[in-house]
Amino acid sequence: MEFSKLLEERRSIRKFDPEKKVTADQIKEIINAAIQAPSWKNSQTTRYYAVVTPEKIEAFSAACLPEFNQKSAAGAALVVTTFVKDRSGFDQEGNPNNEVGNGWGYYDLGLHDENFILKARDLGLDTLIMGIRDEKAIREFLSIPEEELLGAVIAVGYRAINPDKPKRKTTDDILKIF
Ligand SMILES: Cc1cc2nc3c(=O)[nH]c(=O)nc-3n(C[C@H](O)[C@H](O)[C@H](O)COP(=O)(O)O)c2cc1C
Repeated sequence: MEFSKLLEERRSIRKFDPEKKVTADQIKEIINAAIQAPSWKNSQTTRYYAVVTPEKIEAFSAACLPEFNQKSAAGAALVVTTFVKDRSGFDQEGNPNNEVGNGWGYYDLGLHDENFILKARDLGLDTLIMGIRDEKAIREFLSIPEEELLGAVIAVGYRAINPDKPKRKTTDDILKIF
């Protein structure tokens, strides 16, 4: 898909078609796009945990998401994003390179996730990034080790609605040119 069209078409979707299921192969294709993202010294600390089987999705959603996100994500596969802490933005001795610390790990994860959601749309799929989720419950459900910090849960499915684009700021609002 043409890039500008892709940017315009991507939306956060809060109603998915329950009849159309996302496959593990589709998730793999999306993750392969996420991997192409840049990262601090190519440290590549982002990790993904994909829940794709319907029974597991249901159990995961009930245990790990607040009700409003459970409702929005119904019918979609759920992908948990994490990164290995204390590497991106850190030197060989394990000291942070600057004041951002593990913020660089979150930065890298965000770059991966942007590739993720755009690739999903490119494949005709849609996404909802969910930052409101139960960290402890997710860690336990998927046995995520303490070395990894949690990012968002991303719902991936087929849109059942076409929402309007939420208003955006203008370039004048956010850009200062010197
Ligand atoms: C880090 C992050 C966390 C978000 N968390 C949630 C969430 O928990 N639930 C939700 O419905 N939307 C969530 N969103 C979606 C935003 O509300 C949405 O991206 C924004 O309103 C712009 O709409 P658009 O994605 O359609 O352009 C999140 C988005 C981001 C980037």
